[in-house]
Amino acid sequence: MNILVLGSGGREHTITWKLAQSEKCGNLFVAPGNSGTAKIAKNVPVSVTDFPAIKDVVLNNNIEMVIVGPEDPLVQGVHDYFLADEELKNVAVIGPQKAAATLEGSKEFAKEFLFRHNIPTAAYQSFNAQNVEDGYAFLETLNPPYVLKADGLAAGKGVVILNDLEEAKAELKRMLVDAKFGDASTKVVIEEFLDGIELSCFVLTDGKNYKILPTAKDYKRIGEGDTGLNTGGMGAVSPVPFADQAFLDKIENQIVKPTIEGLQKDNLPYKGFVFIGLIKVGDDPKVIEYNVRMGDPETEVVLPRLKNDFVVLMDAIANQTLDKVTLEVDQRSATTIMLVSGGYPEAYEKGKEIFGVEKPMDSILFHAGAQEKDGKIVTSGGRVMAVTSYGETYQEAIKKSYQTIENNLKFDKMYYRKDIGFDL
Ligand code: AMP
Ligand code: GLY
Repeated sequence: MNILVLGSGGREHTITWKLAQSEKCGNLFVAPGNSGTAKIAKNVPVSVTDFPAIKDVVLNNNIEMVIVGPEDPLVQGVHDYFLADEELKNVAVIGPQKAAATLEGSKEFAKEFLFRHNIPTAAYQSFNAQNVEDGYAFLETLNPPYVLKADGLAAGKGVVILNDLEEAKAELKRMLVDAKFGDASTKVVIEEFLDGIELSCFVLTDGKNYKILPTAKDYKRIGEGDTGLNTGGMGAVSPVPFADQAFLDKIENQIVKPTIEGLQKDNLPYKGFVFIGLIKVGDDPKVIEYNVRMGDPETEVVLPRLKNDFVVLMDAIANQTLDKVTLEVDQRSATTIMLVSGGYPEAYEKGKEIFGVEKPMDSILFHAGAQEKDGKIVTSGGRVMAVTSYGETYQEAIKKSYQTIENNLKFDKMYYRKDIGFDL
């Protein structure tokens, strides 16, 4: 089968790496891809949201399946675009249709879904510029810290948590009245603060059946000890040591099952990955958010632990035969450490040559913001490369990744957190 992967990050390199291992994989394409995908597939210089250009790539290369990495094309309706086109409607698309992708595209929609289906989550109310005064009054009823979320997609920056009531009111005004996040903050969800430890649960669904992938925990803050600005993710560990069987059963029964049933009851067509952001409060899981894609860098630790043929698995999603599949998981731990450009997540320089990529090593390198230029691999983004290792324990895996980095990998102003896993 000829397959096209949409995206250009570490997540997409990992998906491509996994697909390339399958005997059922024919010609493999990535749009636009990076220096990692270029080694195992053909990169095509097409944006993930340029649907007519994607159509040309699909038709010109007899592509039978498209796997969508990031949320933007899904929220913009790439799956619906394929279904509505005579020449594309039989091409399998892995990723939910637009109506279902709204679970990530609108925080208010996701909260309404969670409450409608009795899925544990934080209490909330949502506000717009017309009733901002009611928002101030609602904040006064809450205890700090105050959690304010822009309703729409805001490139991961739309959640603001503040300790001071007056600051929270000022922030609410900036979001709603001064359009701090543009259209994304036309509405704002204000939530009860949940205190606990976070983890991510990934679910494959064909719209009827589901399979739960291994859990993972990512490290979102730039600084050690989980301090400083939020990033896309600085490292990840799978499995999550504190998620024991009793807790996993609660996740399945209280969250995964009602989510998949809720999608069906609400007529939200979903063939793809559901990423459920969870927080463990006491002994109970609660939903922080839904994403309609895999996590990055969680993919870089979840897929390496999956033993199944990935083409067969994706095909089962497309054909709604996921109930016939048994997931096989490597019992070892996998961890990844993200190498980032100095300055990220604020301004940083690009075009730095990355040294050591070709050396033999005990880890797997998943390229993210890296491109090939004049025969060299150079940085092209904030998150540059994920260094994944296996270990009998997560400590052993983490140690291996750090050794790989110290012995091999280097670029000007390279930064990484040296404490991934510190809180486990
Ligand atoms: P989100 O984009 O919804 O995942 O939010 C970003 C981050 O904000 C999460 O990963 C949490 O660390 C934090 N967060 C979001 N909602 C809450 C909440 N209700 N209570 C505590 N922390 C939260
Ligand atoms: N690592 C978090 C995310 O992919 O959103």
